Amino acid sequence: MKVLIIGSGGREHALAWKMSQSEHVTKVFLAPGNGGSDSEPKIENIDITDHDELIKFAQNNSIELTVVGPEQPLSEGIVDKFEARHLKIFGPSQEAAQLESSKKYAKEFMIRHSIPTAFYSSFSDPQLAHQYIDQQQTVPIVIKADGLAAGKGVIIANSLEEAHQTVDFMLEDNKFGHAGSSIVIEEFLRGEEASFIVMSDGENIFPMASSQDHKRLLDNDLGPNTGGMGAYSPAPIVTPELHEKIMHEVIHPTISGLKKDGITFKGFLYAGLMIDENNIKVLEFNCRMGDPETQPILFRMKNDLYELIKDACDGQLNKHVPLWEDDFALTVVLAAKNYPDTPEKDKKILNSNFKSPTQYVFHAGTKKANGDILTNGGRVLGLTGKGMNLQLAFDEAYKLTDIVNFDGVQFRTDIGKKALN
Ligand code: AMP
Ligand code: GLY
Repeated sequence: MKVLIIGSGGREHALAWKMSQSEHVTKVFLAPGNGGSDSEPKIENIDITDHDELIKFAQNNSIELTVVGPEQPLSEGIVDKFEARHLKIFGPSQEAAQLESSKKYAKEFMIRHSIPTAFYSSFSDPQLAHQYIDQQQTVPIVIKADGLAAGKGVIIANSLEEAHQTVDFMLEDNKFGHAGSSIVIEEFLRGEEASFIVMSDGENIFPMASSQDHKRLLDNDLGPNTGGMGAYSPAPIVTPELHEKIMHEVIHPTISGLKKDGITFKGFLYAGLMIDENNIKVLEFNCRMGDPETQPILFRMKNDLYELIKDACDGQLNKHVPLWEDDFALTVVLAAKNYPDTPEKDKKILNSNFKSPTQYVFHAGTKKANGDILTNGGRVLGLTGKGMNLQLAFDEAYKLTDIVNFDGVQFRTDIGKKALN
């Protein structure tokens, strides 16, 4: 069987790597992939991103199954376009992907279906937003651009002045373009964050192992928000009891709420959660796997990913039980100098394809040039290690920082530390 995976990040490299291990799979095409995603024999990068060209490729190459990695093509309706040509594709429809592509839609959905989330209001008129902030008189207060903003559309304002400036920045200056033409202003939540990801075929639910991301650029959760600087799995904060509670209060009501709204959700559903004592609230929904969470999660997965996704497309996820290695896995992201603002590119990377039975280097912002692998984006590599406990996984991943290197590299030194302490 031939599989097509759409995307170019660490998440897509991990999906392709895991997919290539299935005995059913003869070839994985990754469109467009990156500088290291095709280092395994079964994986080939193809330089296509246009949806119609991807459809032609899938038709002409007898692709059995397509999997969409990132949110952008999902929000542009790539799944609807493939399905209109009777091509098998895993991911939510454009309508379902609004759970991620519009914060306002997601908030209204959660209220409608009694899914716990932060108190909020939404605005497109700046005057009303300013008035609301003055009425609230509490900080921090959270301001979110409605649309997709590559992880940069959320501002936690620590003063009323900053809150007013953010409203102007988003609604008056149009700094996020159409994505910021309306905003959500919501209550600041305290607690510990966890990413809870499941697969669904619209009916059945297959929970992924728990994981925790590290969104801030710097150690001790300081500095600006990023796409994610590292992750580990499992996340001990998600106890079996909490797992049940999340399934009961968030995941089941979301899938069935969508159904009540006339939407069958087929794809990965990612709930970003704030957990305070035993109180769960949804910060956001994503309609895809997390990046970098995918890397440690799939590093531990024992199920055959091809079988899982194929059966999910056929509404038969109930045939599968999640199987995870007992090992912990941990990914530390190597980012380029000046990430997340204007990451430096074209730096030569040393030992970028290093691997061992307990270590793997997933590529993200990399490219090939004259036999070298060069940096080509903000988040460059995901150094991943596993071990019998979190400390050993941490050690395996961090040992790679001595081996894999490039000029100006920055990384957090404390991925998983909170759980270790
Ligand atoms: P989002 O894209 O909505 O998940 O927001 C990105 C990050 O901003 C989250 O991972 C949190 O760290 C933070 N955040 C978002 N909403 C809130 C909130 N209501 N209270 C506290 N932190 C938040
Ligand atoms: N790591 C966070 C995300 O994928 O949205």
